[in-house]
Amino acid sequence: MKFYIDTAVLEEIQEAHDMGILDGVTTNPSLMAKLGISGKEAVNFHYKAICNIVKGEVSAEVLSTNYAGMIAEGDELSKIASNIVVKIPMTGEGLKAIKYFSAKGIKTNCTLVFSAGQAILAAKAGATMISPFIGRIDDSNWDGVQLIEQIVHIFGNYHFNTEILAASIRNPLHIVKCAEAGADIATCPLSAIKGLLKHPLTDIGLAQFVEDAKKFM
Ligand code: G3P
Repeated sequence: MKFYIDTAVLEEIQEAHDMGILDGVTTNPSLMAKLGISGKEAVNFHYKAICNIVKGEVSAEVLSTNYAGMIAEGDELSKIASNIVVKIPMTGEGLKAIKYFSAKGIKTNCTLVFSAGQAILAAKAGATMISPFIGRIDDSNWDGVQLIEQIVHIFGNYHFNTEILAASIRNPLHIVKCAEAGADIATCPLSAIKGLLKHPLTDIGLAQFVEDAKKFM
């Protein structure tokens, strides 16, 4: 399973990159807005800075909701760097845009996927990857990981090449469950990635080794 980080914060991206586990980055307008980045030039400059850190895929989201706007923006975003993936919302207009980019050989990430039916449509339109938002599904009292399992099963039935990118991950257990379910990619906040590091027996064992090492140092 590939690990992406779900943030626009450059320091966090660098930290995950330095850990040697980072395969890519996802961002969205809310994550950009949190940093106070505004204006097309500033946003594009920020994407460039992210692509300078990470050579893996970097999802950059279009802001338009109509087909013409999405393809104009996506074409521009794809020119920022060769590892940019154009992120497009799961709508009828979005599907048309995915088909357009697929025909041009430009990678797409279909975002805001909340059902297996939406996943099938995005795959049929030629999406490179789809983003089911598992944390938000859990928030609404359904089972986000179960959706990943369902999509893995369906895509396996028909040998779709579209990758399943588990998004809206909130904690380390989500990551492990998505790996068990067969997600191709998990995009996670840095806190969830760091949460995977922790085990009390590791801390106790290390403290013991450090203590014992003093006896012969
Ligand atoms: O990758 C999608 C993600 O940014 C949404 O996460 O926590 O806002 O549901 P969240």
